[in-house]
Amino acid sequence: MATDHAIGIDIGGTGIKGAVVDLGTGELVSDRRKIATPAGGRPDDILEAARELLVEIDAAEGAILPLGVCFPAVVKHGRTLSAANISEEWIGLNAEELFERELGREIHFINDADAAGYAESRYGAAVDAEGLVILTTLGTGIGSALIYDGVLVPNTELGHLELDGHDAETRAAFSAMERDSLSWEKWAKRLQRYYSHVEFLFSPDLFVVGGGVSKHHQQFLPLLDLKTPIVPAVHRNNAGILGAASLAAH
Ligand code: BGC
Repeated sequence: MATDHAIGIDIGGTGIKGAVVDLGTGELVSDRRKIATPAGGRPDDILEAARELLVEIDAAEGAILPLGVCFPAVVKHGRTLSAANISEEWIGLNAEELFERELGREIHFINDADAAGYAESRYGAAVDAEGLVILTTLGTGIGSALIYDGVLVPNTELGHLELDGHDAETRAAFSAMERDSLSWEKWAKRLQRYYSHVEFLFSPDLFVVGGGVSKHHQQFLPLLDLKTPIVPAVHRNNAGILGAASLAAH
């Protein structure tokens, strides 16, 4: 068994993705498998979907590798403490223990944006970045990761800053652009408001923008006027898998 390999599973509002990661290079070394998130996003249903995915990965791998799971909620000591775009049954649940018991192996359970931020700082857009890096993922919600000199400060939840009387992610996430049929320019105005505010609060040294939409970064990042450099994530939709796998193995 290759000890420098681990599995990452990224549970999202629409899909559950997983793959084997080479922890030396940060590359996916298996097919990326994906299944739809069961409607309602309830713990038991998600657990079953994750099990299905894992069985496929284990079978292809022929060995039991370390497993990291990332999830769109505050995760403290293995317990999921919030539920912004997922079933409320997750609030207060000892998710890590439940998954370990049901899947019969040790698991490291963490927030999805923290996983992505960790991945970008180890293998991506923020390698060797000094000072404060803030990664935000623009998707169904806005996830955030704070990394200071390579050290992750978990569970920051900057997507839920209250801005102009709104929960910020309900205006500036990619889902808000889709919901309100915004042009890139109109969406960029909302992003400008959001990132200026985060910049004012934290004075970061670097912003990294992740989430699937970051592959279209040329459409919106050049429209932003910030003092802080802002760059797209390198691993986009794979960053969660990568970070979860990597944190599980360390
Ligand atoms: C959740 C975060 C999560 C982010 C991205 C937010 O709504 O509160 O925990 O990281 O969405 O999925």
